[in-house]
Amino acid sequence: MSTKSFRAVYETEGVYDQLLLRHYYGGTEDIDLVADWLTEHHHAPTASLEVVEFGCGTGRITETIAPYARNLVLADYSETMVNAVAQKFPEARTICADTSDAVTVLLRQGRSSSFDLVTAFWSLSYPIGEFFEELSPSGVRPRQDQARAQARAREFVLDLVRLVAPGGHLLAMLFDAESPEQQLVTRGWEVVAPFPDGGRAYTRNVLVDALREAEGRGDGTLTHTRLGGVAWAPSRDAAREWFFGVHFKHHPLLLDDPQLAETVEEFLDRYEIAGGGVALPSGVHLIDFHAAAHPYASLPIGLSS
Ligand SMILES: C[S@@+](CC[C@H](N)C(=O)[O-])C[C@H]1O[C@@H](n2cnc3c(N)ncnc32)[C@H](O)[C@@H]1O
Repeated sequence: MSTKSFRAVYETEGVYDQLLLRHYYGGTEDIDLVADWLTEHHHAPTASLEVVEFGCGTGRITETIAPYARNLVLADYSETMVNAVAQKFPEARTICADTSDAVTVLLRQGRSSSFDLVTAFWSLSYPIGEFFEELSPSGVRPRQDQARAQARAREFVLDLVRLVAPGGHLLAMLFDAESPEQQLVTRGWEVVAPFPDGGRAYTRNVLVDALREAEGRGDGTLTHTRLGGVAWAPSRDAAREWFFGVHFKHHPLLLDDPQLAETVEEFLDRYEIAGGGVALPSGVHLIDFHAAAHPYASLPIGLSS
């Protein structure tokens, strides 16, 4: 498969690592946000946790969580990604499947309430989105029954929660659909098809709504933080490829759209920085569901016993 073919970013070896930009939030890289979260919740790594990561990619963030894992399960729909992590983390169990299928497999294998840490970084929007629409080189086809899609997507999120052990966490990072960068991405994809609910925030809304529902039932507490920052491209070419290769996945309809190409160039003009490079405004949603039963989890120590 060529490095410019549709979805090459996830399906051709080396392309993801080559195109990926570094993301900084308040001067901290996204990987370090996870490292800081781990230090806050688990102190020094002791290889004591049952950990699963969905949409693990090439294992960029896995490097940070692996030292905490007694057992590590790594899942991704792409064979290329799974091969990469299998080499980097030979002790881990790998699953090559769509995240919703991987979750079903784990639940069937008796893994409910067994993971101290269920994680997905920059990857949960895909399986959630796939309940609503099907993406192919010829375009985007909305699923016929959108109410059913909504119900299945909600059930998928609740299934993710079912994997979490008592006291454990579901930790996810999601892109911020409202950032200027992602609004441009949305405008691009709308060349192909409109999004359900009028925008690309719908996948995050599905996730947050289902987690609030779980919190309302007393299954845990949801902490949701939005951080503003930048994706830093060392050159204009890197920034352009970030849009066309990563965000637009080399989709033929988007690669051939002169209007979109012009809009991207204008955007890059706006965010090019003196001395070279482009600092694209970006945002990340850090979503942490702590599976601790109400009401005790939220009381100060002493009051909860
Ligand atoms: C933006 S990358 C993030 C990779 C990694 N978590 C990181 O932060 O570097 C998204 C990952 O999700 C995977 N992916 C996309 N759709 C998926 C799906 N429906 N099920 C499972 N994995 C999927 C891609 O193959 C890719 O590895």
